[in-house]
Amino acid sequence: MNYTEVPPLGDRGLILVTGGLGFIGSHTVVELHNAGFEVVIIDNLSNSSIDVLKGIEKIIGVQPAFVQLDLRDKKSVQDFFKTHTDIQGVIHFAASKAVGESVENPLLYYENNINTLVYLLQELQLKEKANFIFSSSCTVYGQAEVMPITEDAPVQQPISPYGNTKKIGEEIVKDVAKISSINAILLRYFNPIGAHPSAEIGELPLGVPQNLVPFITQTGVGLRKELSVFGNDYPTPDGTAVRDYIHVVDLAKAHVVALQRLISGKNTEKVEVFNVGTGKGSSVLEVITAFETVSDEKLPYKIVERREGDITIAYANTDKANSVLGWSAQSTLEEALASAWKWERKIRG
Ligand code: WQD
Repeated sequence: MNYTEVPPLGDRGLILVTGGLGFIGSHTVVELHNAGFEVVIIDNLSNSSIDVLKGIEKIIGVQPAFVQLDLRDKKSVQDFFKTHTDIQGVIHFAASKAVGESVENPLLYYENNINTLVYLLQELQLKEKANFIFSSSCTVYGQAEVMPITEDAPVQQPISPYGNTKKIGEEIVKDVAKISSINAILLRYFNPIGAHPSAEIGELPLGVPQNLVPFITQTGVGLRKELSVFGNDYPTPDGTAVRDYIHVVDLAKAHVVALQRLISGKNTEKVEVFNVGTGKGSSVLEVITAFETVSDEKLPYKIVERREGDITIAYANTDKANSVLGWSAQSTLEEALASAWKWERKIRG
């Protein structure tokens, strides 16, 4: 990854990372530092721990500026921007992201994922120039017809309120960019997994993990009895669902490259959209096999019913990110799983 295009120090202001103590946010803070950016983190610690700040410091040698703030509080957001006038870019991760929870409590998701976006954009539209990276998701495609999925695949009515907040969020960003100085890039993540190679930061799911890989690693350390594989009757080669699992460090680097593109004015539209994946699909059983290889452990699992709302298959066409952003994922599934396994063993002592 070539960071030499970073503008001269004097041109680089502060980068605000909301949700910067979260899984993807914390890894992005590390890569922003590595690329020479100065960062300030906003996080309300509702789904993250202040210890992540120490983990970041152990990796980069300095503790980034941190402001504990709930973006649902409009006045706090306004006050933040009054005291931080040199924000040159914003990477907005702060959001709730549990699909199942969003079905049970939709208004929590509309308040936390939409109101916060509106309050942030209300501040950014007042600035001469604002660069905004929005954390979106492949979930906006629903079950896409054609694989691999390109950015112009139709955005469908997502199945969950979580997915709907990503679809609505993208529309809000587009509408505001049309009438303001905001330039934006929407990054549609596929399935982020793994942890920083130092094992100083990684995924910290609260309670029982909803996502596949943390459930696998917790099963591997004996925290969970066995993995339930949600269905093996999908129309896929081995009957289990297929996803595009991308190393979180590769995903973090995509944010830095996207930000640099906006700061250097290379974007050709006010709002650009990129899929961020590996371009490779892996089934649940293939992930299990890969985990057993890297951990040298047999993973106990059982096949159960499909999970409500799951799609059969999704993996990215990454041509646009490769050619336009000049970014591609570097890590293999095995390397990502090995980093997740090293992290799990580290935090379980
Ligand atoms: C992956 C596969 C499951 C758990 C969601 C969101 C997406 C993003 C990532 C936030 C599926 C199967 C899972 C388990 C299983 N979220 N599985 N047993 O659902 O593809 O994507 O999380 O950014 O927006 O939609 O990810 O990890 O939950 O599931 O068999 O215990 O693993 O059925 O096929 P998903 P996942």
